Amino acid sequence: MLNRQGRPTTPQAHGVADPAAGMGDQAARLQGDANRSSGSTAGHHPTFTGNKALAQVEPLLFEIGRYDTTGVDFDEPEDFEPRLGGLERKEPIGLPGLSEPETMRHYVRLSQQNYGIDTGLFPLGSCTMKHNARLNERMARLPGFSDVHPLQPVSTVQGALELMDELGRYLITLTNMTAVALSPKAGAHGELCGMMAIKAAIEAKGEGATRNVVLVPDSAHGTNPATAALIGFKVKPVPAREDGWVHVEDVKERLGPDVAAIMLTNPNTCGLFEPQVAEIAKAIHDAGAYFYCDGANFNAIVGKAKPGDLGVDAMHINLHKTFSTPHGGGGPGSGPVVLSERLAPYAPVPFVRMKNGSFELVEHNDEAGGPAAPFGRMTAFHGQMGMYVRALSYMLSHGADGMKQASEDAVLNANYIRAGLSDLLSLPFGNKPCMHEVLFDDAWLKDTGVTTLDVAKAMIDEGYHPMTMYFPLVVHGAMLIEPTESESKSSLDLFIATLRDLAMAAKGGDKERFTGAPYHAPRRRLDETRAARSPVLKWTPPAPVAEAAE
Ligand SMILES: Cc1ncc(COP(=O)(O)O)c(C=O)c1O
Repeated sequence: MLNRQGRPTTPQAHGVADPAAGMGDQAARLQGDANRSSGSTAGHHPTFTGNKALAQVEPLLFEIGRYDTTGVDFDEPEDFEPRLGGLERKEPIGLPGLSEPETMRHYVRLSQQNYGIDTGLFPLGSCTMKHNARLNERMARLPGFSDVHPLQPVSTVQGALELMDELGRYLITLTNMTAVALSPKAGAHGELCGMMAIKAAIEAKGEGATRNVVLVPDSAHGTNPATAALIGFKVKPVPAREDGWVHVEDVKERLGPDVAAIMLTNPNTCGLFEPQVAEIAKAIHDAGAYFYCDGANFNAIVGKAKPGDLGVDAMHINLHKTFSTPHGGGGPGSGPVVLSERLAPYAPVPFVRMKNGSFELVEHNDEAGGPAAPFGRMTAFHGQMGMYVRALSYMLSHGADGMKQASEDAVLNANYIRAGLSDLLSLPFGNKPCMHEVLFDDAWLKDTGVTTLDVAKAMIDEGYHPMTMYFPLVVHGAMLIEPTESESKSSLDLFIATLRDLAMAAKGGDKERFTGAPYHAPRRRLDETRAARSPVLKWTPPAPVAEAAE
């Protein structure tokens, strides 16, 4: 008999009968789950269950459920006449049946293995893990918002349309742009939307065949070149300089009649505001091209600087970053795009418009009525209503002064961390003020035998989600730390003290603390290359119990 850690249990040693005897199939299956918990037990007695007190091991739903039963009691249909001509399923469907308490316990346990902004400081740079205020959640659950259906007649959803209109107006005001497309569902989707508007504008000028190059700085997020390439542009990199900034001369050198646009992130992914951004915008416009700004880091400048004033033509705003809506993980995200006057006519449908005293949704290009046609649509419906409600709730509850203060606090917190660590960690661009995130490299780990990855794993043992690693690519062994603006001073102090302790351990030769980490997580270090190259995406039923127990 194996326990969940794959160790043979030795009932004789305890002078008792096999403790798993008579536990039934389900428990026996769990007993055979050899590799589920491989956490370090160094210095501790391994537990029979694999649990470590409140840190519970949780098998898959498929492994704990029964296939011959269900947690829900359905009535047998009366006088049921099959109408599928014999095609109806005759075998059990193979889904695990669990009772409500079992289901609840499963998901609660899984949630306890997760790390989120509600559990601790989340220093993931370039991702802006903001606190999701409960007020926003409450607003999004109001039945008038949560129950609307995208196919409802517009006369029945006037309030929802008004909310979209108001959110759009605030985004336009905060950025000083002309139009907004709310429907894109993530930052990367917003990039695609903005670049499609640029492409439409270029084609409308008859330059579609000649302007086919997009300039992208080396420090850009991977989604930038991917977006440009996806819609047929050639990507020309702009190299990074030693100061972490994009220089206007480097841009000018690459400008020509073939350049359609630049995709520039500001503040950039090195955590720095681009000081030459206005000159770059002018050079781009003088060359007849467009300025796409990756607005992922807008949270550092809301209320302080307006992208429209800097010459930006299109910019996406990740509502899940700057405006505190939950990160969707590919699910319910939202990445509205703001557009300059030059690109506004190409904004996609649908959009909200006030006509004869009520709101309407413009769904088709020929209804837009502007000087040029929208380039089409990005989504089947209108975007993520729940995210719009949360973002507007964030804006209204903060007010203009509150949003400005959030930006200032984000920058202050990042600089506090920079100042607290600059004597031990290395800063690739010198010890100069940063924006909302601070970028370290791995020069400080030279000759220690410890890598950026090892430091990240050791942070897990300390109860922190790691910072962003190895991004941006322009910095060796990058460690990009972005503390949320809502972190208290004491929380930042503990984080700094923890990283100082780790830094001193690495420099002091305590390599083992890092190379074997994480020691205390539910999972030890994974073979990340294998996990990426050969992911196991399919669950296969376990071997019959008798075999598994042998
Ligand atoms: C600089 C930058 N650009 C674009 C994106 C893409 O945004 P999303 O994840 O919402 O698609 C990210 C995401 O982290 C980012 O950091």
